[in-house]
Amino acid sequence: MNDLDQLVQSATADFGAAPSPAELENAKARFLGKAGRVTELLKGLAALSPDEKKSRGADINQAKQRIEAALQARRDALAAAELEAQLQAEALDVTLPGRGRGQGGLHPVSRTLQRIEAIFGSMGFDVADGPEIETDWMSFTALNNPENHPARSMQDTFYVDMKDAQGRWLNLRPHTSPMQVRYAQAHAARHAGVEPMPEIRVIAPGRTYRVDSDATHSPMFHQCEGLWIGENISFKDLKSVFSDFLRQFFETDDLDVRFRPSFFPFTEPSAEVDIAFASGPLKGRWLEVAGSGQVHPNVVRNYGLDPERYIGFAFGMGPDRLTMLRYGVSDLRLFFEGDLRFLSQFK
Ligand code: PHE
Repeated sequence: MNDLDQLVQSATADFGAAPSPAELENAKARFLGKAGRVTELLKGLAALSPDEKKSRGADINQAKQRIEAALQARRDALAAAELEAQLQAEALDVTLPGRGRGQGGLHPVSRTLQRIEAIFGSMGFDVADGPEIETDWMSFTALNNPENHPARSMQDTFYVDMKDAQGRWLNLRPHTSPMQVRYAQAHAARHAGVEPMPEIRVIAPGRTYRVDSDATHSPMFHQCEGLWIGENISFKDLKSVFSDFLRQFFETDDLDVRFRPSFFPFTEPSAEVDIAFASGPLKGRWLEVAGSGQVHPNVVRNYGLDPERYIGFAFGMGPDRLTMLRYGVSDLRLFFEGDLRFLSQFK
C-alpha cells in the first residue's frame, strides 16, 4: 500500500468516525482544507521535475477524488440517519381507533319521519314537502272551513303580519292538510287530459305551528299528512292502510286500532284513530294518534277534480306523539330543548 492509499484509508476512517455533520466538516478540513494533507501534498509537487510532476500530480488528484467520494458518502449516510431519527420521533399510529368526539346522531323525531317515509314508500306513496308559511286560503278556505271556524282564531293560529299578493293573510301552517290541496292541484295539472288520471298517493311530513304549550303540546310540532285519491278508494282502504302502517311502525301485531267518529270540516265521515297496545306499560289504554276521514267533496273540487268521479281519504298524524309512544318519553318538550343528555340516548 503506497502513501496515497494510506491517506485515502485514514480519511475514510476519520469521516466514518465523525458522529455529526459538524464533526464531519472538521474532518474534511484536515484533508481537503487550505492546510489539509492533500493540499500539502499538492504544494510538494513544486520541487519535482516536469515528468515526475505529471505522474505524481495525477496520482494525488485521483486520491483526492476518492477522498471527496468518501466524504459525500458519509454526508449522505448522516443525513439519512437524521431523517430516520426524525421519522421515529414523530411516528403516528394510524391504526389507533379515533376518539369519536363530536359524533352526531339523528334526532328521534327524524328517525320517526324516516320510518314513516319508508313504510308508506313501500306502499307506493310519494313523499312531498311544502311551505311552512301558508295562505289563509290553503290553510283553511280550501279545506272547507267556514269563515268563522274557531281554528282560524288568533288563539290557535300564529299569523304572519303580512299579506300575499292577492291580499290574503299569511300564517304559520297549523296543520299539514294544505299539502293535500297543493299536491293534488299539481298532480291534476301534471296529468291534465290523461285518461284515466293516475291515483294520488302521497304523504307530506313537516313542521306545523299552533299557539299551544304543555307536556304534550309544543308551539312547533310535526305532522304527517296522507292522501289517497282515485275512482274507487273507500274508508275500508283507509282502515287497512293505516292499521298496516301502525303495526309496521310499532313492530307488533298485538295492537288494537280503533276508528272513533269525529269531525273535521275537510272530511266526511271523519274519525280519530286510536291505538291500544296488548302489552307493555301502556297496555290497554286507548291513545289518539291521528285524524282521518273521507275527503269532503268541496275539498276534492278545490283540488281541481270532479267530486262525482274522484273519492278517497286523508289522514293527519303526529310523528312527535308516535315517537313518544315508541320510545316511552312522557314530555314532548324534551324533543325540542336540544339537551344532548336526552338526545344522545337515541344515537
Ligand atoms: N288536519 C287535522 C288536524 O290537524 C288532521 C286531519 C288530517 C284530519 C286529514 C283528517 C284528515 O287535526
